[in-house]
Amino acid sequence: MASELQKRLSANQVAEFYHDVFVQDQARDFGELAAPLDSDGVVVDIGGGVGYFAERVNVELGYPVRVIDMDPESVAQCAARSVPAQVGDALKPPIAGDEACVCFNLILHHLVARDEAGTRKLQLGALTAWKDRNIPLFVNEYIYESFVDRASGRLIYAITSSKLLSDIAGFAARFIPAFKANTFGVGVRFRSHDEWLALFRDAGFDVKAVRIGADEEVKLPLRLLLIKAIRRDSFILSPASAA
Ligand SMILES: C[S@@+](CC[C@H](N)C(=O)[O-])C[C@H]1O[C@@H](n2cnc3c(N)ncnc32)[C@H](O)[C@@H]1O
Repeated sequence: MASELQKRLSANQVAEFYHDVFVQDQARDFGELAAPLDSDGVVVDIGGGVGYFAERVNVELGYPVRVIDMDPESVAQCAARSVPAQVGDALKPPIAGDEACVCFNLILHHLVARDEAGTRKLQLGALTAWKDRNIPLFVNEYIYESFVDRASGRLIYAITSSKLLSDIAGFAARFIPAFKANTFGVGVRFRSHDEWLALFRDAGFDVKAVRIGADEEVKLPLRLLLIKAIRRDSFILSPASAA
C-alpha cells in the first residue's frame, strides 16, 4: 500500500468536477469493454464523484453499484440521488469482498505526491490495492501525447504542482483561457498512452482491452507545452497471472 502522502484538492477545487460531461463516453466504454462481467457483485466507482457514472451503469446495465470518494459533499450528492456511496480513500480503499469490477474514471491523474517518484507510487498503490480481489479493473484516463518524447505530462505536472508556476499560469489564464485549471497549486499527472500501459504493467496487471478516445482540440497556447494530442482512453485490466 502506498506510504506517500497525496496532495489533495480543496473542496472548492473538487466542486468543479460536479458535472457529467465525460460520463457518456465512460459508460459506453464500460458497456463495450467490461460487460458482461464474469462474476455477480457490485461495480465500485473509485473517485466516483457525485455518482453520474455509477447511476448510468446501474440504470443501463443493471449492476449494483457503489461510489467511493474522499469528498464528503460528493458522497452526500450521491446519497441524495439514491446512489450508494461512502467516503473512502483510493489509496486505502474499503474492500468489502462483494466487488465484481472496480472503476477508476479520471482519478489516477489526481493521485499526486511531492515528486515524480512519489506520484508514481500513489498511482501504482491505488491499483495494487485491488490485486488480491482477482477481478477486472476499468480505467478511463487522460492521454497526453507529446511532440517530444513524454514531455507534456511532466510539464503540466511541473506547472500545476508548483505554487510559483501555478500563479504565473493562473495570471496567463486571464488572457489565455486554454490555460485555465482548477488544479493549480496541487498538481495533476497526465501520461501518454504508453506510459499508462507501463504503469498498469508495473502494478501487476495485464491490459485485456483498450478503447482509444476521440482527439480533443489542442488550443494553440497549449501547443507551447508540446502537446500533440489530448484524449480519454479506456482500459480493462486483470491481475497478471503468475509466470
Ligand atoms: C476529476 S474528478 C472525477 C469524477 C468522476 N469520476 C468523473 O470521471 O467525472 C476526481 C475525483 O476523484 C476524487 N478523489 C481524488 N483523490 C481521491 C482519493 N485519494 N480517494 C478517493 N477519491 C479521490 C475527487 O474527490 C473527485 O471526485
